[in-house]
Amino acid sequence: MIGDFSPEEKDGFYKAVFSRRDVRSHFTSESIDEGILTRILNAAHHAPSVGFSQPWNFILIKNEETRKQVRDSFDKERIRASTLIEDPKRSKYLSLRLQGILDCAVNVCITYDPTKFGPFVIGRSSIPETGIYSVCCAIQNLWLAARAEGIGVGWVSILSNDDLKRILEIPDHVVPVAYLCLGHVSNFAEKPDLESAGWLPRLGLKDVIFYEKWNHENDPNWQQIHEMIVSNLDYA
Ligand SMILES: Cc1cc2nc3c(=O)[nH]c(=O)nc-3n(C[C@H](O)[C@H](O)[C@H](O)COP(=O)(O)O)c2cc1C
Repeated sequence: MIGDFSPEEKDGFYKAVFSRRDVRSHFTSESIDEGILTRILNAAHHAPSVGFSQPWNFILIKNEETRKQVRDSFDKERIRASTLIEDPKRSKYLSLRLQGILDCAVNVCITYDPTKFGPFVIGRSSIPETGIYSVCCAIQNLWLAARAEGIGVGWVSILSNDDLKRILEIPDHVVPVAYLCLGHVSNFAEKPDLESAGWLPRLGLKDVIFYEKWNHENDPNWQQIHEMIVSNLDYA
C-alpha cells in the first residue's frame, strides 16, 4: 500500500521508541555534528500542533556560564524538593543522578508562545493546555529523532521557570516547557534509570488500559485484545 512502512522501517521506528532513554550520566564530551542537530530539530518542528500553531521555539545553548547558572537553579530546586519527602526516600532521591547540564554537548530550552499567529487558534479555545501539549509533541519527536541519530537526551525539570526566564531572557508571556541536555553517550541503558535504581517499576500495559469506560478492566467486545495484553505475548 502506498505510504506503508516496510518491515525494516517499522522495526527502525519501534527500535527508537523502545531504546530511547532519559540520559543523565552517560554523556561523552564529543560534540554533535551540526547536520545531525539540524535534522533532530527539524523533526521536532514537524510535530503536530493545535490549529497548526507551531507554538514552540528552541533556544540552543552551549555557553558554559549560562549552563552553570541553570545548574545552580537545579541544585537549589533539588534540595527544595528533597524537603518534601522523608528518609529513607529523601536520601535515595538525593543519591539519584538527575541531570547532565554541564556534561553534554548542547542544552536546548523548548518554549511555548501562546501569542504566535494571534489569539485565535483552531482547537485551543476549549482546552487552552493544548498549546503546551503541542510543545510536548515536538519534544517527543526530538527525543525519538535524537535516539535514531544515536544522540542521548535528558529532560531536566528540577528547575525554577523564573530562573530560566531570567537566565535565558525569555519574555513574560512565553513559557519554558522543557530544558533538555543533548549529547553523544557511552551507552543507552536498557531500562529507565529510575527503574534500575528501584525508585518505581514499569507498569504492565494491562494496568493502564480500560475498556469503554473509566476503570472497566474487561469487556466482552474487547476479549481478544484483552487476552493478548494480559498474556503479554505478541505485542512486546
Ligand atoms: C516532563 C518530564 C520531566 C522530567 N524531568 C526529569 C528530571 O528533572 N530529571 C531527570 O533525571 N529525569 C527527568 N525526566 C525523565 C524521566 O525520569 C524518565 O523519562 C523516566 O524515568 C523513564 O525513563 P526513560 O525516559 O529512560 O524511559 C523527565 C521526563 C519527563 C517526561
